[in-house]
Amino acid sequence: MPRFAVLIVAAGKGERAVTSLPKQYETLAGQPMLRRTVQAFSGYTVHVVIGPGQDTLAAAALAGLDLPALITGGATRQESVRLGLEALVQDAPDFVLIHDAARPLVSGKVVAAVAAALEAGHDGALPMVAAADTLRRKEADGHFTLVSRDNLYRAQTPQGFVYAKILAAHRKHAATEVTDDVALAELAGLTVTMVEGEEKNIKVTCKEDFALAEILMGNPNAISDIRTATGYDVHKFTAGDHIWLCGLKVPHSHGLEGHSDADVGLHAITDALLGCIGEGDIGMHFPPTDERWRGAASWKFLDHAASMVQTRGGVITHVDVTLICERPKVGPHRDAMKVKIAEILGLELSRVSIKATTTEGLGFTGRREGIAAQAIVTVRL
Ligand code: CTP
Ligand code: MG
Repeated sequence: MPRFAVLIVAAGKGERAVTSLPKQYETLAGQPMLRRTVQAFSGYTVHVVIGPGQDTLAAAALAGLDLPALITGGATRQESVRLGLEALVQDAPDFVLIHDAARPLVSGKVVAAVAAALEAGHDGALPMVAAADTLRRKEADGHFTLVSRDNLYRAQTPQGFVYAKILAAHRKHAATEVTDDVALAELAGLTVTMVEGEEKNIKVTCKEDFALAEILMGNPNAISDIRTATGYDVHKFTAGDHIWLCGLKVPHSHGLEGHSDADVGLHAITDALLGCIGEGDIGMHFPPTDERWRGAASWKFLDHAASMVQTRGGVITHVDVTLICERPKVGPHRDAMKVKIAEILGLELSRVSIKATTTEGLGFTGRREGIAAQAIVTVRL
């Protein structure tokens, strides 16, 4: 079995991207771009070349991954690759795949095609895609002349090589500036074959490319279907010494009447959640005629509605509830209620809001005959 090594060059400054960190350490769909790129090469030994002074950033981005020691790169991509290749001398592989950290969307298919071309006996393999746009070249006088796109291709990475040959090429031509490794390989007379690249294997170069990469990844944060729905519920006071409100047992001069524990707050949220996915209302899923739900704790209803949202691929992003009553006072319990709701729905506290109002003595809530609750929920599908 030939031995492969992957060399990922991540020593650039990402000047064109103008992000706060060098682009390879910026978050892409929830993870540092470099981490995504490294993980695209599962099953391979991945050597990462980082820039001088990027140790802390790299350690954070790659935390928990089982990788060989990081290599320090140089001032140009070419130099970073050469230093990376030199670092492998002691434990030289047969083949090396050289890849840009800035191409996190590389697929297993492209990697396999490059590897297969090397195993088939080529000195090098280059993934490319045909140029699809009509091309023009800017001339010295400012005019743009048409360049036929026929037979024009765009080069990508990983570019694969017989390790000893590409190392020799880099050493010999270190003083000749080129933009990729195949260019050096050709200077050194290596035979390089073309393999199919992929359009989605973009090089994240400018800031806008982050959004494009996220869309190509199918990241739900990138384009999503945002849904909102409301819920409303009322329960009547009855004899008792406590009520359940937003998942919390609150001592009170009365209880609330209901088939379940009569938690108006949780019922309103449950209805709003069902509303986000067009799934009817709480009465449809938990009919009051069903003995199973007699005295039931309402967090079970909420939990059920939340899992219905989740099975549809939905993510609950915000919950806002207004409790309408003269008494009990909600303020002293607000924080504990937020914690309960956040726990049931698996949300951060900042995504849960509880408000309360009286109705200035007016209406049934003003007459202290019951409590009303209204909720609005946001779901990303
Ligand atoms: N690279 C490197 N060492 C350098 C320069 C670039 O390892 N001295 C790496 C980059 O980290 C990137 C890849 O080479 O993964 C392709 O380079 P590019 O997209 O140009 O990245 P940057 O050089 O970082 O970006 P810019 O040119 O906009 O500054
Ligand atoms: Mg660059």
